[in-house]
Amino acid sequence: MRYVPIKYVSEGMILAKTLYGANGEVLLTKEMPILLSYVKILSKLGFCGLYINDEFSEDITVNEIISVELKMKTIKSINNLMQPNIRKKEIQSSLKIIEKLMGNIVDEISCNEDIMINMIDLKVSSEYTFYHSVNVCVLSIVLGAALKLKKSDLYLLGTSALLHDMGKIYTPKEILDKPEKLTYEEFEIIKQHSENGYRYVKENLDINNKVYMGIYQHHERYDGTGYPLNIKGEEISLFGRIIAIADVYDAFVSDRPYRKGVLPSEAIEYIMAFCGTMFDQRLVKTFFTKVAPYPVGTCVYLSNDLIGIVVKNYSSYCLRPSVKIIQIGNKLLSPYLINLKESNYNVTIVGMGDALLYQ
Ligand SMILES: [Fe+2]
Repeated sequence: MRYVPIKYVSEGMILAKTLYGANGEVLLTKEMPILLSYVKILSKLGFCGLYINDEFSEDITVNEIISVELKMKTIKSINNLMQPNIRKKEIQSSLKIIEKLMGNIVDEISCNEDIMINMIDLKVSSEYTFYHSVNVCVLSIVLGAALKLKKSDLYLLGTSALLHDMGKIYTPKEILDKPEKLTYEEFEIIKQHSENGYRYVKENLDINNKVYMGIYQHHERYDGTGYPLNIKGEEISLFGRIIAIADVYDAFVSDRPYRKGVLPSEAIEYIMAFCGTMFDQRLVKTFFTKVAPYPVGTCVYLSNDLIGIVVKNYSSYCLRPSVKIIQIGNKLLSPYLINLKESNYNVTIVGMGDALLYQ
């Protein structure tokens, strides 16, 4: 399968992954041929692209980090928990479900030592907070596992990351979804969510203090420029520093009301640029051995005009994947594989994402 940006999805393409809506409901099932009318609706819902299967990509597999079923169950539970009128009893039962799901998420991630974030997340932008919470949870656990945290700590880290934006239940929706730049006063209101979330979770969930601290400190910055406490360096808890990186990464690759999402390679460059200032250098370096700048199934342009699809990534050489070459300029070629990790010749990846593989 391969990833096609939504503007290049055309009628008759075959969907390679089932698409889900905000509450985990199935929108389109895999193997369906896509109609033009679907593309318009999906685009309105905020899907930036789709995975399709075609003759060029049928041998390429894109693996999920956690099973789709588990991901959708978790999105549903965080959605339930973040309803504004939720009753005390329902809060407790939702948190119980989340505790159980977290055990499954940690099990699925930690049973695979070689795990990498190697796909573009498909999500509806209207329900950003729920998808984002689950993505931040998965990214944080992957980073925690790469840092060799104990399984019991991965479980706490995942819980903290999943609940990191809980405090947004107190933030007015019109501020959260505002497409224009926030005023000073509005930003001050947004900033209250980390402390509100910390208080809310502490009140409703009896769990290790590390979980509360991750929520409280996920907007602190390593150089002291964050909020609410303006603390810096290792005064910020490890969970706070990990969740900060996962949070910013997922926010960057997602469409938001005020800007379009960027490609994984660009989000990585942004975080790299603030490595050692806003973000803990050691954690950033480890994170980027686990997040592929050019995920499997994405189209890449090479410096010698060749165009291909990423087939495999290597965690120690994340800028040098294996690529299935399909095309040069507008001319189709007989496909062949090159492994940038092993090839000695002077070829680099110069762009990704937008090529029409054939016209
Ligand atoms: Fe936040």
